Amino acid sequence: MQQKLRVGLVGYGKAGSAVANVLSSDARFELRWIARRTSSGNPQTHPGTDIPIIGLESCPFAALFESDPVDALVDFSSPESIRLYGEEIRRRGIILISAISAYTEDDLNYARSLGGDTRVLCSPNITLGINFLIVAAKLLRKIAPFADIEILEQHFKDKPEVSGTARKIAETLEVNGERITSLRLGGIVGHHEVIFGFPHQTVRLTHESIRREAFGTGAAFALTQLADCKNGFYTFDDLLLNLMRSELLETAKPDNTQDGE
Ligand SMILES: NC(=O)c1ccc[n+]([C@@H]2O[C@H](COP(=O)([O-])OP(=O)(O)OC[C@H]3O[C@@H](n4cnc5c(N)ncnc54)[C@H](OP(=O)(O)O)[C@@H]3O)[C@@H](O)[C@H]2O)c1
Repeated sequence: MQQKLRVGLVGYGKAGSAVANVLSSDARFELRWIARRTSSGNPQTHPGTDIPIIGLESCPFAALFESDPVDALVDFSSPESIRLYGEEIRRRGIILISAISAYTEDDLNYARSLGGDTRVLCSPNITLGINFLIVAAKLLRKIAPFADIEILEQHFKDKPEVSGTARKIAETLEVNGERITSLRLGGIVGHHEVIFGFPHQTVRLTHESIRREAFGTGAAFALTQLADCKNGFYTFDDLLLNLMRSELLETAKPDNTQDGE
């Protein structure tokens, strides 16, 4: 039987707690602990489990890795954390999945340098669905460069800015940001749609966010994929494309061809 991957999670806010729900109930992983800035006044274990929630003010990363070793660290905290655990994961070869969306170029360069000694993935958008949508849209753009493209994003009433994901889609497809339409209504968690207008047909690629647990599904995918990678710095695209490439090669094997081909 394959050994479970021992995982530590840093960050236990809106996203981190949902990620903990997913990782703690996935049989491929053993979520060993959850670290946050401070543990005062909060439950000491993740609800329904005996996974400890540890305040880093009383137990810094070096002590944590020493007392309860992990194979991988998942970061849903804040940009500064990477400097707190970086050298420890480098020294110990711990896999890093960082979901932090607001790294500076300096932070990203540091993360890339960690890739020299371990496996690192940084993904400012870690949902599997959105990343798949982006790859699929990129492919369709290549196949049909003549199609008109519009991007539609819908979010809850109080979201002030244009969705970063919609801007990333526009950038990836090399279309002007003006092609993004934003609708703000009710409590929509997140809807992204890329509409390809062909002369005689329309293709719509749509992603709907339902719950923050989707971040956990993305982190779980990244953990399983990175476990089979060499040391290096990866993006979510890299992992998806690697998987697609090997699937395509598998389908193209000679024994899959039809008679007479
Ligand atoms: N890539 C993606 O798709 C994606 C999706 C969602 C969120 N995110 C990212 O995830 C991060 C958290 O988002 P959120 O909405 O969950 O924020 P949040 O609700 O404010 O929670 C932040 C959590 O991180 C902890 N934290 C902050 N700085 C820390 C440090 N230096 N060391 C240890 N723990 C620290 C906080 O600890 P305390 O509880 O003790 O204050 C808190 O538990 C953000 O950077 C966000 O950009 C990424």
